Amino acid sequence: MAPRHEKYYHAPVMPEEVLECLKPAPGKIMVDATLGGGGHSEAILERLLPGGKLIGIDQDDDALRAAQARLSRFGEAFKPVKGNFRHVASIIKEFGLKNVDGLLFDLGVSSYQLDSPGRGFSYRGDVFLDMRMDQSLPLTAADLLRDLSKRQLTGIFRKYGEEKWAARIASFIVEYRQKKEPISRSKQLVQIIKNSIPAAARRRGGHPAKRIFQALRIAVNSELENLKKGLEQGIDILQARGRIVVIAYQSLEDVLVKKQFRESSRGCICPPGIPVCRCNNVPVLKILTRKPLYAAPKELSKNPRAKSARLRAAEKLA
Ligand SMILES: C[S@@+](CC[C@H](N)C(=O)[O-])C[C@H]1O[C@@H](n2cnc3c(N)ncnc32)[C@H](O)[C@@H]1O
Repeated sequence: MAPRHEKYYHAPVMPEEVLECLKPAPGKIMVDATLGGGGHSEAILERLLPGGKLIGIDQDDDALRAAQARLSRFGEAFKPVKGNFRHVASIIKEFGLKNVDGLLFDLGVSSYQLDSPGRGFSYRGDVFLDMRMDQSLPLTAADLLRDLSKRQLTGIFRKYGEEKWAARIASFIVEYRQKKEPISRSKQLVQIIKNSIPAAARRRGGHPAKRIFQALRIAVNSELENLKKGLEQGIDILQARGRIVVIAYQSLEDVLVKKQFRESSRGCICPPGIPVCRCNNVPVLKILTRKPLYAAPKELSKNPRAKSARLRAAEKLA
């Protein structure tokens, strides 16, 4: 049964910093590419009126339902869209738009998604290993654990989880599913991970299952591919002097954002020593945050989830 929107909760992270960087103002048109419960969107919409508009995208039905209920008072100024932000250019086209004044990406999953047993993101408790943000995606984490080879699993754990014990954990998973049963519950997987990591190593670096759960989630939802496409399109559709703000919660995402911003803000990329530029590359972005912004201690005391947040912002050049 679909959860009711009253139960949806998620405290928006670094809301003041988001507003400061995005600069919403009456009449502007902005996109919240990760609508979630609509917390950031609400604060942005309040500053876009009168005359402005916000297109809010999410691939998760629960989030859309919750945000629609929360933001209904904004009437036609709020346009909710079920979709993936990797298609943000074609999404705004459906509203007759080619450009927007601002874009927000607040990546990852919401507290609600993380804590809802039915969604299977958490390594605490015992839940079915679903992990799809978009419930219409074809493959769950349980499917990957059943069907992928040891080599493929190792690759995912290494690339998306930066897990030192990737190969050993993949071996234990394959052995378990061959000798016992398919792995479909979080408790089964956590136990297998614990069994595969030597006791001394298990005591370091947080919960031993954290990196494997992160890796599976990234793989199930193609998170890094989506982010790359979303950023490329987002930068492309920004109006001159428009702003893009991204909040990342883990280093793989943050590195990707930093790289994309740097590439888009660079001019000539010809090899050194070439007398005349041949690439004709022109910078399209000005980076506003040379170093990422972090949540202030006051926010962290109320919302520990903000601890890993890194905010980067940039402005489109004319
Ligand atoms: C951290 S939450 C956003 C919370 C929101 N800023 C708020 O204030 O409530 C991230 C949201 O982005 C959505 N999401 C993640 N990747 C997405 C993608 N590629 N396309 C669309 N939505 C995505 C998730 O479903 C989730 O609801």
